[in-house]
Amino acid sequence: MANNLRIGVMGCGNISTTYFKLSPLFKGIQITACADINSEAAKKAAETYHVKAMEPAKLIKSKDVDIVLNLTIPDQHYAVSLAAVKAGKHVYSEKPLTLTLKDGMKLRDTAEAKGVKVCCAPDTFMGGSHQHARKTIDDGKVGKITSGTAHVMGHGMEHWHPNPDFFFKPGGGPILDMGPYYIGNLINLIGPVKRVAALTSMASPTRTISSQSRAGEVITVETPTNVHALLEFHNGATVTLSTSWDVFAHRHPNMELYGTEGALFVPDPNFFGGTVMATHKAGKPEPLPAWDHPLGKDNQEHAQGHFANYRSVGLADLAAAVDGNRDARCSLERTLHAVDVMTAALKSGAEGKFVEMKTTCTRPAFFGPDEARALMR
Ligand SMILES: NC(=O)c1ccc[n+]([C@@H]2O[C@H](COP(=O)([O-])OP(=O)(O)OC[C@H]3O[C@@H](n4cnc5c(N)ncnc54)[C@H](O)[C@@H]3O)[C@@H](O)[C@H]2O)c1
Repeated sequence: MANNLRIGVMGCGNISTTYFKLSPLFKGIQITACADINSEAAKKAAETYHVKAMEPAKLIKSKDVDIVLNLTIPDQHYAVSLAAVKAGKHVYSEKPLTLTLKDGMKLRDTAEAKGVKVCCAPDTFMGGSHQHARKTIDDGKVGKITSGTAHVMGHGMEHWHPNPDFFFKPGGGPILDMGPYYIGNLINLIGPVKRVAALTSMASPTRTISSQSRAGEVITVETPTNVHALLEFHNGATVTLSTSWDVFAHRHPNMELYGTEGALFVPDPNFFGGTVMATHKAGKPEPLPAWDHPLGKDNQEHAQGHFANYRSVGLADLAAAVDGNRDARCSLERTLHAVDVMTAALKSGAEGKFVEMKTTCTRPAFFGPDEARALMR
């Protein structure tokens, strides 16, 4: 690849440290500037990571920034991404791309008119485990996928996030917050969705913050916190997707896909690694044979265990796509389709009927060990 594309971080909150720390793993990108409506947050990040702090409006227009990395809260994603696109910048946004399909379509049309690329997290489907699952399907090992289940359920975000308000406002909720990981991986594994039905509810109209420093403050819940959706894919597969923050404990696995020749057990799409297992027909589930994929190797240790975390790979893939004038794996086309699916689930829950998708997409290109090594320093 030619020169590094210069990245300007917009929003120096919780997730920004992940990008500051992990982006140096990849070729073709370098964070050079940061901004935040909270100038102190930008100043602190700039000092810690040796980049230039700017005012938000200046970063968007800066000649020294090629890609705006939009790490603001969800209800700011559209406005920040649109402003950056209008200024002629490529954009990589945290998820979700936008909160409505209409906004996403406006962003797409503006990006097309300006000749810039827009991409959106998550990039976890590019991890070693999910690509191994993808290869297993593509090699026909479990036959044609005809159905499946996916579950991401827990008891909310007010226990750990310092400012959890946005999770419970329109544009938050488990489907828009956690759905992108699951739907992104289902698009990677199965392809686009045709129609969606869902039942939605909320267990409590308020949540009490227990994380520091706002412990005891009460948040009003303004969006469903329990969404059970049924997805019909264009390939004919039907998948149940349950997303909830009203569940204290459960025993459902993250994702299981059932094929005409066997079954595939896929680890948590919120992470890059984990054990993928499969059966041949009704045989015993066995882990897939070892696969040397650089984005499956554990590189982080937390209280809960070891993890593979390579967030920023989608950003590096965007830079390579700009350089090579090719499709980026976390493209607007795919992440707009995910917005379509998620907002359709909320609409279906409100209206009590199936909702047909207004968008479609292709599956992202396979990201095997060779493709991954080519992007890494
Ligand atoms: N925290 C995580 O672990 C995590 C993980 C994956 C994805 N995400 C996603 O990342 C995004 C940010 O989450 P977070 O946890 O870092 O939130 P956060 O509240 O910790 O940080 C957001 C930052 O953006 C700034 N900001 C808000 N509006 C802005 C604007 N218009 N212009 C410039 N700056 C603005 C805020 O001042 C704040 O510093 C969300 O979309 C979230 O879904 C977060």
